[in-house]
Amino acid sequence: MNPFNTETEKQYFYLDKCKEHVIELARQLGRTPTACVTTFGCQMNARDSEKLVGILQQVGYQVIEEETADFVIFNTCTVRDNANQKVYGRLGKLKSTKRKIPHMKVALCGCMMQEPSAIEKIRKSYSFVNLVFGTHNIFKFAELLYGTFVQDRMLVDVWEDTDQIVEDLPCTRKYPFKSGINIMFGCNNFCSYCIVPYVRGRERSREPKDILAEIKALVADGVVEVMLLGQNVNSYGKTLSTPMTFAQLLTEIEKIEGLKRIRFMTSHPKDLSEELIQVMKASNKICKHLHLPLQSGSTRILEAMNRRYTKEQYLALAKHIKEEIPDIALTTDIIVGFPGETSEDIDETIDVIKQVGYENAFTFIYSKRTGTPAAAMPNQVSEEWVKTEFERVLKTVQETARLTVGKYEGTSQEVLVEEINEQDSTLVSGRMSNNTIVHFKGDASLIGTLVDVYLDECHGFYYMGHRI
Ligand code: 5AD
Ligand code: SF4
Repeated sequence: MNPFNTETEKQYFYLDKCKEHVIELARQLGRTPTACVTTFGCQMNARDSEKLVGILQQVGYQVIEEETADFVIFNTCTVRDNANQKVYGRLGKLKSTKRKIPHMKVALCGCMMQEPSAIEKIRKSYSFVNLVFGTHNIFKFAELLYGTFVQDRMLVDVWEDTDQIVEDLPCTRKYPFKSGINIMFGCNNFCSYCIVPYVRGRERSREPKDILAEIKALVADGVVEVMLLGQNVNSYGKTLSTPMTFAQLLTEIEKIEGLKRIRFMTSHPKDLSEELIQVMKASNKICKHLHLPLQSGSTRILEAMNRRYTKEQYLALAKHIKEEIPDIALTTDIIVGFPGETSEDIDETIDVIKQVGYENAFTFIYSKRTGTPAAAMPNQVSEEWVKTEFERVLKTVQETARLTVGKYEGTSQEVLVEEINEQDSTLVSGRMSNNTIVHFKGDASLIGTLVDVYLDECHGFYYMGHRI
């Protein structure tokens, strides 16, 4: 019989058990045990890592940045093969660190662990790893961590899927003033190149009441900006027992007093509704930024990618959004080198980049992901061709972005100050509502506040300014 009423209760039980072991470890070491969480990949992973840090701190670890800690966990990504290669590279290093620190425990979690081939390789070549778990059971981290205290052999717990959403577990934010919030998990789109639906599972939305309660608590704790996270936020709410649209959810979030800015990511163009555009237009809090992945400007390639829109539909949507919300910044993702792609297809992509005028575009070289339909397509393109075409796309992105980003030069804009500038400590760095980065003279007391900044000069993707 399960003695726990809820999964959350069960995890708090294990959290307490872990505490006892960490106290014992501290006694043996003569100091507070340390832990390090290294994150690869997207904002979803960054948010998951905050949950891992929350649990590690609650059980008594001091969380540090160095991978020489007593407990090291990699939260992995697998969207492109180079993400996997990075993890193997870092694991190689950990192997020699662990030789010097034999009591060190190593754990792996995240998207890459959902791939059977990765697990096989880890068992074979990295047998020093203590714990492996996946994306679907991350809520079990306290229980799994306890497992590493009571058993010596590698503990592997990876689930194929889940419909569970476990609420109210600990979480430690990286920034006091802003936070990511998961509003949904998984993806049902199955773009033909993408591994995400296989490693993150089917789409499921959190209940609006849980999302609103979490944001209210965050605001009470000093958060002024939230980033609503989902692989395809535009289809939020479809799986709820009482369905709700993403636009309706935004309207509710907007009402939260004290919350200043709302961002979200990512939007699939095929699901972007007129209702959402109108809610964004009317809102004082939703930031003037929309990340709208294009992937390709060629209708032929878009069809092979299973994106379910044409070049013309995308262009019409972008034009309409800009007409309705003139000061909105559009950013995008582009893939170069999809199977069967030709220079004519790239010309179409370049044409869209020029017509839309993105503030920024993340350009990726196509990476073949085992198990996806695109990996089985016969007409994979040559590496050499991809390199040249990639450069051509990148150049267009840089040229157009410079013009688009620069149009606010000589105006003053509200900036949320995020940090001391990494290169020059007399400067602070923050973001405009449209997500453009601004650097200006200031000190740590400004972090987390909204200030008016005059934009003196645009340097490509960012501005130098001064406070007014
Ligand atoms: N190869 C290259 N880029 C990819 N992306 C997703 N899958 C692949 C792949 N197999 C990109 C898409 C997506 C972004 C998060 O990653 O552009 O929008
Ligand atoms: Fe991948 Fe497409 Fe889902 Fe985005 S929408 S996560 S690209 S399958």
